[in-house]
Amino acid sequence: MSHPYLKKINNKETNQTLVSLRMFAEQNKVPIITETGLNFLNQIIKLRNIETILEIGTAIGYSSIAMALKADVHITTIERDKKMFDMAKINVHNSNLEDRIDILFMDALEVDETTLDKVDLIFIDAAKAQSIKFFEKYETLLTDKGIIVTDNLLFHNLVDQEVKDRNLRQLLTKIDRFNKWVVQKQGYDTYIYDIGDGMSVSIKRSD
Ligand SMILES: C[S@@+](CC[C@H](N)C(=O)[O-])C[C@H]1O[C@@H](n2cnc3c(N)ncnc32)[C@H](O)[C@@H]1O
Repeated sequence: MSHPYLKKINNKETNQTLVSLRMFAEQNKVPIITETGLNFLNQIIKLRNIETILEIGTAIGYSSIAMALKADVHITTIERDKKMFDMAKINVHNSNLEDRIDILFMDALEVDETTLDKVDLIFIDAAKAQSIKFFEKYETLLTDKGIIVTDNLLFHNLVDQEVKDRNLRQLLTKIDRFNKWVVQKQGYDTYIYDIGDGMSVSIKRSD
């Protein structure tokens, strides 16, 4: 018999929508958050009473739908790829979550952030080389209990390894630069976790 705690940690997705979206993503090589990463995000949402979320990088809408199914949150999510945006629209509609998930079809670096409402949580999950820019652009939207979570920081633990491919090496250098930048960023307490593909959690300081 398996240990009850193990059961909790392995907490597999049971929601049919999420299972089929994950299968679609895997079959079509759409990168989406890992299950452990998602569980971690959902814990943060619950523990910090998060009500509003801004997500950078929608893809097919998987993470937005998963967060909205788990908690009573409102999510604005930004996607620049038309095919992804169209699929996310359909998936959100099919999940009856149109009243709680707004999808913006835009490059997140070109959005006028002053037109957006304040949010409790910003989840950065788009072009990894741009993470510093996303952070700096959108941090102004954080409420007092604000948190910024960034995904894919350790990039499957490749950051510390010797990598031959030039493009990948450049990307890893940028991810490494973000890691170093974010831990010393003033005004936040930042922790980097080896969860999923690696996640940073920056909690806005109240002092
Ligand atoms: C890792 S996927 C997002 C996965 C999604 N958050 C999930 O877990 O289900 C990254 C997405 O970000 C989008 N993206 C990358 N750079 C972007 C930008 N500057 N503005 C908006 N979307 C961007 C890509 O098109 C891609 O669909």
